[in-house]
This record gives sequence, structure tokens and C-alpha cells, in this order.
Amino acid sequence: MGHGMVLCDTIFDMKMAKYEGVNLMSNKQESYLTLSSGFSFDYGNLYGDGKVTAGDVEALSEKLAAAQQAVEHMRTSGEVRGHLSKDGVPEKVLFTQLPYVVEGNLNSPASIAKLKAFGKSLQNNVDAVVSFGIGGSFLGNKVLFDVHCGEFWNSKSTAERNGYPKLYFNGNNIDARRTADMVEHLVAEARLKAVHGQANSYKVTLVVISKSGGTLDTMSTFMVVYDALLRQAPLLEVEVVAVTDPAEGEKATLLKKLAQEKGWPTFSVPDGVGGRFSIFSEVGLVTAACIGFDIDAFLAGAQAMDRACQTSDIYQNPAKLNAALKFIAAEKYGRDIEVFMPYADYLKSVAEWYVQLLAESLGKRTDREGKEVFYGRTPIVAVGTTDMHAQTQQHQDGKKDKVVQFVKVDKWEKDAVIPDVFPSVAKLSEISSIFLSQALDVAREANAQALINGERFNATFVLPSLNAYHLGELLYMLALSVAYEGELANVDAFDQPGVEAYKRLMGPRLKAIKRN
Ligand code: PA5
Repeated sequence: MGHGMVLCDTIFDMKMAKYEGVNLMSNKQESYLTLSSGFSFDYGNLYGDGKVTAGDVEALSEKLAAAQQAVEHMRTSGEVRGHLSKDGVPEKVLFTQLPYVVEGNLNSPASIAKLKAFGKSLQNNVDAVVSFGIGGSFLGNKVLFDVHCGEFWNSKSTAERNGYPKLYFNGNNIDARRTADMVEHLVAEARLKAVHGQANSYKVTLVVISKSGGTLDTMSTFMVVYDALLRQAPLLEVEVVAVTDPAEGEKATLLKKLAQEKGWPTFSVPDGVGGRFSIFSEVGLVTAACIGFDIDAFLAGAQAMDRACQTSDIYQNPAKLNAALKFIAAEKYGRDIEVFMPYADYLKSVAEWYVQLLAESLGKRTDREGKEVFYGRTPIVAVGTTDMHAQTQQHQDGKKDKVVQFVKVDKWEKDAVIPDVFPSVAKLSEISSIFLSQALDVAREANAQALINGERFNATFVLPSLNAYHLGELLYMLALSVAYEGELANVDAFDQPGVEAYKRLMGPRLKAIKRN
């Protein structure tokens, strides 16, 4: 992709390139980083002459070395300089531990076995699961659902779902219409089951995910649905599973207390794992268990990425390289919008997950010394080819303030050849015998090339195929990348003080409505 031009850029770069003791020639020739799994980062349209240069990266070498040390320190101790919890006390950051399933870790052999047993208990037993959660307690779960189940899971037969239940999401908005529609739908499904003479009632498991245990969106919709479904007994049978902070006693969340009182089974949102980093914890894995998603492969992919990102050689470390190039693109070249554009419908939710990761982690008023910096890069969701017919005009001709980050799937499990069904229509006959996946990739390549021809920075992550392992690699790399970028920008990537502002206004208003 565009490597003829990239080559010229890099010959210039190679002359000056020596960074952290590594000869860059071999790595930079193609501006392409490939891991042994086949996962690649093609950054040729983001790096080189007229883009972020080797000199720019070299100028950042001191900060990069410090970032490397800080991330290493976080990995081994959980400590991040200046990071405080919502209550203003030092708090560990432990998401880098999650890919390692080890006794005593947040994910242990016992905790993974418990998740899998939960999944098994639903198989050929529970008809539907409703997962309640918002933000970090929803976005990652939706990614796992979309990649594993696709759009038509809930229309498939039980056998086609391998016995796993249908799965619905709620709580990710306070939407009265959709919530009522969902209840009506579940009741209609239950009636259908009864009409078909099946003796057992329709079983629904409500999985309520909230770290704080009291989030308005999650708890209000849960209460509405719980109450409405309970009223449908014996047509419908309802069970509840709570996923929340495991603290007991005084510190127990209200969801935890409720679970204890009602005898609901629980899973944990571990201390030290913020919502947007929780996809590799029981938060995301509980959804994985409900649909038979391959938890082991997912964590193995994340682990392989974590290991790959331990090298200090920036040109071999995808998370550090991604962070550095985008940080420089924003700070030096004003490209502080990132359009995250997978070429795959079922990866749109990855873009939505990434929006939260980038926005909450890096959109910060002050640096770690308390100085106002108003740092942040604005994330935008796009999908190829869909948004080529909606956003690309602006990416191509609008302000030069963006990096377009593509995601490409190299090999598709399902594909189709465009058949020559209208041989007399020359224009349609011309595109026949091409695979849809080829057409998709030609569209992405053309978009990338046109953008860089117009000096529009872009890059591509390549997944060899769309499976749990490569998804684990991608998501983990992005999570680690914001940790690096937080260090480069000197902001706390793990807090979100900005969201308290609206919460302070919302609380009293809700109380006033109730009083009236
Ligand atoms: O990343 C975050 O911390 C937030 O998006 C939270 O996940 C979100 O607000 C939901 O919070 P909770 O899990 O406490 O209900």
C-alpha cells in the first residue's frame, strides 16, 4: 500500500536513523511492523517525509524512554505516578495483569473456570440473557458479542447458537421506548414458547454490570425490566447475576449488598481496573461466557501483545509506536482528531469502545503537576466502506486535523464471489468474479492512498483474521497505547474527573423531581 512513495521517504530517514541503539534500516524500509502472529501495523502513510519523521521520533527519545520505564513500572508494580482514585487516594492500575491467568492474579485458573461453568449453566437451559451496563461496563461486552455472534444471533435457533442463550443489551442508555420494546419482545418470546407446548417457562438471566453498583442508567433500566418480568411469572422465570466491586462490609456497593440479600451469584470488577480497561476482566468475560466466545484465545492474544510491547525498540513495539506517532501528529502537526475506521461491520463496536478509551483516558484539563493543558485527541467512529459515502469527503477535503486509523481483516472466514448474473450489463459484469473481501480491501486501499496523496495522515492495523486471538491483540494494544500516550502527554490516563461535573448537577435534579 503506497510503499513506492514510502520507500523514498524512508531512504532519507534511514540515513539519520539510529534510535535506542537499534539500527532502524530493517524496520523502517517498509514502515510496517508485523508480529509473529501476523498482526501488523502499517504506518507508511503516517511516517516519513511530509508526515511524522524519524527526526520527530528521535526528538522525543527522552520522553519515550521515560514512558517505557513508567509503563514497565506500572506493569510490575501497578503504580502510576500521580494517579488517584475518585476519592483522591493513590490507586493501582492493574489491567496489564489481566492477560496472565495465574494463581493470585485478577484472572486466575479458578476465576476462569467459574466463568466457563457459568456459561455452561446457561447452555440449553436459559433462553435469553439481558446484559445491563454502560460505558466500560457495556462497550467491551458489545465488541465481544458483535465479533462472535454477528447481527443475527438472536434470530438463530438454539442449536445454531450451540445451546447458548439469546443476548440483549440494556442500560447503555435511559431509553424508555427501547426498554419497553425489549420487555414486550421477551414476553412475546415467552408466550411463543408456551404456545409451542414447551413445559418449562421462558428463562431470562439479567446480568447487571456496575463497578460502582449504583449507576443511574444501568440500575434504573434494570429495575424497570426486573419488575416487569417478575410480574410475568410463571410464564417467565427471572434470575439475576451481579458483576460489581467485590468489596464487602462497609465498602460494599449497593449492588453487592442487594446480591447478598437476594442470594444472586456475583462476579467481580476488580480494584485497579477502570471500566474502559475492563474487557479482559470478568466484566467482559462474563459476556464471553454467555455466548461461548473463546476466552482462552482472547486472553492469549492480549498476552502475546503485552509481551511484544515490552521491548524498548519503538519500531518493534506496536503500542509505543502507535502512541508516539499519534502524539507527534497531534502536537506537532495539529492532527488531533482520530477517525477509527474498521473495514468490517462487526468491528464498528471496536471503534465505539475506542472512543471511550481515548476520550476518557486522554481528554484532560490538567497535567500531572496540575497545570492546565487541555490535552486530548478527539475520537470519531467510522466504518468502511459505509462512511466513505458519508465522512470521507470531509476527511479528504476538510481541515487537515485528522489521522484516519483503518483496521483491515486479511482473511475472511466467510466470503462471496460477485456472480456474473447480468452479463449483458457491462458495468455489473466488470465487477463479477471478484470476491467481496477483495472489493472491500480495494476500497480501503484507494481511500488510504487518496488521503495520503492529499497529505492526510492515515495508518492501518491488519488482523490476519477476525477471531478471538487477534481481537485480544488489537484491543490490548490500544489499551496499552493510551498508557504510553498518557506518559508522553504527562496526563493521568486512568482517571476521569470531568464526568463528575454533570453528575454533581444531575443528582439534586433527580431528587427534586422525586420530591415534586
Ligand atoms: O470507564 C468508566 O469508568 C466509565 O465509563 C464507567 O464504566 C461507567 O460510567 C459505568 O460505571 P459503573 O460500572 O460504575 O456502572
